[in-house]
Amino acid sequence: MNQADFEEARKAEAIYHNELYSDHEILEPGTWLSKPNHVIMELLDRLLVHKDHVNVLDLGCGAGRNTIPIALRLQHTDSKVVGLDLLYEAINKLRDNTNKYGVTDVIQAKEGDVEHADITKDHYDYIVACGCLEHVSSEEAFVQVLERMKQGTRMGGIHCIIMNTDIQEVERDTGRELDTLIELNLPKDKAFTILEKVYYSWNVLEHTTVIHSVDEEKYDTPTQFRSQSITFAAQKVK
Ligand SMILES: C[S@@+](CC[C@H](N)C(=O)[O-])C[C@H]1O[C@@H](n2cnc3c(N)ncnc32)[C@H](O)[C@@H]1O
Repeated sequence: MNQADFEEARKAEAIYHNELYSDHEILEPGTWLSKPNHVIMELLDRLLVHKDHVNVLDLGCGAGRNTIPIALRLQHTDSKVVGLDLLYEAINKLRDNTNKYGVTDVIQAKEGDVEHADITKDHYDYIVACGCLEHVSSEEAFVQVLERMKQGTRMGGIHCIIMNTDIQEVERDTGRELDTLIELNLPKDKAFTILEKVYYSWNVLEHTTVIHSVDEEKYDTPTQFRSQSITFAAQKVK
């Protein structure tokens, strides 16, 4: 993607997410923010069978749809959860939600770009990236972020990556397919090939695809975002 299209994609994403986070609350009915991702929560439970406290990193955390339920589950343990998002508005809303749900002692909210963020080495037990890694600037950047995530993970730690692939954007009024304006629109098979290669020495726990559609208002006309949403989870075993 050229620089102009990249900036255009970033702008459209910011418009969509800022409006979403200001108009809708997490964990309330009405939008996809209404509940946490169930695989993310199940993998956290799996980790907690063997550990009584964990360090968690939620990349592209948004307003905290997953971050807050994770922190609530970890409350009263010595656990810490870092939520990172590119958008000031998302981090602001996460801070509000951290207060609202009484988990200020668990969550640290950080504004930053996943592509350039430091990930403390050998520190995390669980790293989640839900709807985030399709927004890095290139395939190379994607692999580099995955490698930094790996370095930041302790033995036995788990990664759960959920990302949209094979994305199409369609005008709702006419059904016309637009030129997709997403920073990294990988074909599903390519995304899995990269993930399998990067995580070759880890134990793969989840490798699934679901068809995903969501109505969006981010351009002049209303659109439907369609994708093959992949979930890939793996555990560091050596
Ligand atoms: C589809 S939302 C998902 C939010 C949250 N993970 C969830 O599941 O509710 C994607 C989020 O990723 C953030 N994001 C996009 N590009 C990013 C980047 N380069 N670095 C960090 N966050 C990013 C967006 O601001 C947005 O809040």
